Amino acid sequence: VVALSALSARAVAEPDHLIADFEGDTFAGWTVTGTAFGKGPIDVPLPLQQPVAGFEGARYVNSYHGTDKGQGTLTSPEFTITNNAISFLIGGGAHPGQTCINLLVNNKVVESATGDNDERLAWYTWDTKALVGKKAKIQMIDKETGQWGHINVDQIVQTDAPPVPALSTALLYQESYRPQFHFTAAKNWLNDPNGCVFYDGEYHLFFQHNPESVNWGNMTWGHAVSPDLVHWTQLPDALKPDKLGTMFSGSAVVDADNTSGFGHGNEKPLVAMYTAAGGTNPASKGQPFTQCIAFSNDKGRTWTKYAANPAIPHIAGENRDPKLIWHEATRKWIVALYLDGDQFALFGSPDLKKWTKLQQLGMPGCSECPDFFPLHLDGGAAKTKWIFTAANGHYLVGDFDGTIFTAEPGVQQADFGNSNYAVQTYSDIPAADGRRIQIGWMRDGKYPRMPFNQQMSFPAELQLKTTADGPRLFKQPIKEIETLHGKPSEWTDLKLNPGENPLAGLKGDCFHIKAEIEPGNATTVGFKIRGQQVVYRVADRKLESLGTAPLDLQNGRITLEILVDRTTIETFGNGGRVALSSVYLTKPEDQQLEVFADGGTAKIVSLSVFPVQSAWRSEPSALQK
Ligand code: FRU
Repeated sequence: VVALSALSARAVAEPDHLIADFEGDTFAGWTVTGTAFGKGPIDVPLPLQQPVAGFEGARYVNSYHGTDKGQGTLTSPEFTITNNAISFLIGGGAHPGQTCINLLVNNKVVESATGDNDERLAWYTWDTKALVGKKAKIQMIDKETGQWGHINVDQIVQTDAPPVPALSTALLYQESYRPQFHFTAAKNWLNDPNGCVFYDGEYHLFFQHNPESVNWGNMTWGHAVSPDLVHWTQLPDALKPDKLGTMFSGSAVVDADNTSGFGHGNEKPLVAMYTAAGGTNPASKGQPFTQCIAFSNDKGRTWTKYAANPAIPHIAGENRDPKLIWHEATRKWIVALYLDGDQFALFGSPDLKKWTKLQQLGMPGCSECPDFFPLHLDGGAAKTKWIFTAANGHYLVGDFDGTIFTAEPGVQQADFGNSNYAVQTYSDIPAADGRRIQIGWMRDGKYPRMPFNQQMSFPAELQLKTTADGPRLFKQPIKEIETLHGKPSEWTDLKLNPGENPLAGLKGDCFHIKAEIEPGNATTVGFKIRGQQVVYRVADRKLESLGTAPLDLQNGRITLEILVDRTTIETFGNGGRVALSSVYLTKPEDQQLEVFADGGTAKIVSLSVFPVQSAWRSEPSALQK
């Protein structure tokens, strides 16, 4: 699956030219070497192969002949490139350069593609606009002899109108790099979570979405809802670019008392504030970045932009990312806004429409996507502190009197992973629940050949606890992960010697691991998860999980909680004292787990490994409160 952004339309489309449909019982005119491709296209299931689907007609090319061991090549006669694209169906192994289909011009590989470790064939397209008129060949090669050492190919065609990759709902959300319990857009790019708000039994997740491509652009608010922050249903896009700009990040609240006057009908109004990024679409040429509002009286299903937008005119630079909160004590709305450089501001309003600047504040090393919210210290109502976070999740702790936020010295860090960005907490979670739940964009992940790009973090609960260093945020995955738990494998009071691996029998791609470990005289203890280490270095007091966090032993022990999805590892140390939210790319077939101790004997005080089911293929189950 590829982005076809730039296929320029010709005045008159060139008709399709079929290169091969592999319907005959020989390779007619193609040159075969080796054994992998057999004697011709095949029409019967091959022995020992998983079912193959998605080819057209009766026959297709398959380089698996009872085994992955076969090697060889299959080369087309020379042809002239006539069209903007070459499209074909491909399935089988993902071994770039080894077992693949190549486009050769002057005997050099100019394009290449592989399967996706999936027997099903799907459309793939090469953009050949720049090659029209050139002589070319197509060559399939199969050098890989290990697992998935084969490809399936069918229906190679030169075309100006490439087939849209098949995304039947049966296959959607099952792709090999599709996160199974993290939110992704069904299709195309996403970045920041926006408008995180709970209303009438639904968590809303709006998100920076490019409806048109797997790359960033055309910023639009995508929209999804969930009863439990785990099982999501994507709805139509909520806010689309207009003459003030494309729709950059922002937030949403329930205007319970209809202070805005936007409410009518039976539902309470939801009000969103977003940045109109002036100048980022042709319609807004010459406009600055401003803050605008929109409202919905039908549970977020449809939105009306405020006629007198912007609500906050341009202040500085590319000021953006307004985060709203209701301040009950002074009965007004507050918005935290990013200004420019490392500068942020707070504004106040009685009605979400008219805003007065309250304060400007700096956060060295930080920018974008502020959030501002109170937390009870140590869970008790006796003491409340205010937290100001920036996009990277770093935060200030302080006090707020409704006008001025007075921060304690020092910018703090809660998450030390390689991918924790644009964090935002949920608004309007019922008081009886009382949680402060944060979700972020897991930036920079790689999703080869997927119809979507980028993902959200798993929602985490934030708590403020007294530590020797002062009050600090603790971050832990929300308990709703349990709705996806399978039957755990569990151990208690187990001695762990170097070279031993009690998890050797487990396999899978999604896990929730909970462990309490006493390193004893081991120098390192930890896990190897699908090839990736999560390791505690005892002498250094450091926890490494695609990032490094300081972590002390408590009574000679550490606790670890680890969420493993297809492209992410989120590790939480000592009850959330440190978190490491990280993206990684592993081979889909690498499904091994290991727990290890090196340099001495450790004790596993307790260890539970829960397989995690797909949120896309399970129903939300009633939560035990
Ligand atoms: C953060 C950010 C925001 C902006 C949005 C645009 O990732 O750069 O500051 O509003 O993304 O998509």
